[in-house]
Amino acid sequence: MKQLEVAQHAAQVGGVVLSKYFRQSFDVRMKQACDLVTTADVEAEHAIAAVIRAAFPDDAILGEESYSSDASAERLWVVDPLDGTTNFAHGIPHFAVSIGYYEAGEPVCGVVLNPARNDVYHAVRGEGAFGNGERLHVADHQALSESLVGVGFYYDRVAMMRATLDSIADLFGQQIHGIRRFGTASLDLAQVASGMFGAFFEYELSPWDFAAGRLLVEEAGGRITTCRGEPLPLAKTSVLASNGILHDSVQSIVERHLV
Ligand code: IPD
Ligand code: CA
Ligand code: CA
Repeated sequence: MKQLEVAQHAAQVGGVVLSKYFRQSFDVRMKQACDLVTTADVEAEHAIAAVIRAAFPDDAILGEESYSSDASAERLWVVDPLDGTTNFAHGIPHFAVSIGYYEAGEPVCGVVLNPARNDVYHAVRGEGAFGNGERLHVADHQALSESLVGVGFYYDRVAMMRATLDSIADLFGQQIHGIRRFGTASLDLAQVASGMFGAFFEYELSPWDFAAGRLLVEEAGGRITTCRGEPLPLAKTSVLASNGILHDSVQSIVERHLV
């Protein structure tokens, strides 16, 4: 599929920009309290958009920093040029380029690349999910007591933070193996798809954070919804991803605390 090839190439091009700046000097500014953006985010996004535009000049692009197409566009590319900016800004090699391609609001293909490890994930609707070319499968955990759970914290430091911490406490009450907060939502979803996390949740994410990762989860046999169990909109939303088996158990906890 040409769109997958373009997404893979664009992700590599974005990854080269990120690698050029990683652990070097770059400008950092605040978009809002605790929400950083660097030179690398902006430059990588322009480089990615140039690859997409060259191949598909009529398609729309929704990118976190500079591309604001309507999410309802018929043929839409959803780009996070640097997912995990906080990790990147602190020299932690856990960040990603995330590119999802949608038609009529439905995911068609997606690519997530961690340039620091050269790990690349991709999925095509109906054709499966892959990590470095190997087919991905979600974990077969039957109970929370067999699982590691990933979590993300939105930038809110008040009600949503408290709700997230309350959910974590309840999850520990289910004897989970542990909680991980790695700081890159697209890679968190890749870790659900790879069977490392039995589940992952975050109370607020943007479309570019999950546009590609949601297809990885679904094509690896998992389930992804809002934290209330509704179909995921291509908009700001809460997100719950799981191996499917654990979905209702995690949902009953995270939904209870959702503000
Ligand atoms: C952030 C990361 C993080 C998640 C935040 C996102 P950014 O994306 O995915 O893991 O917890 O909610 O905003 O800002 O680094 O692209
Ligand atoms: Ca992001
Ligand atoms: Ca970003």
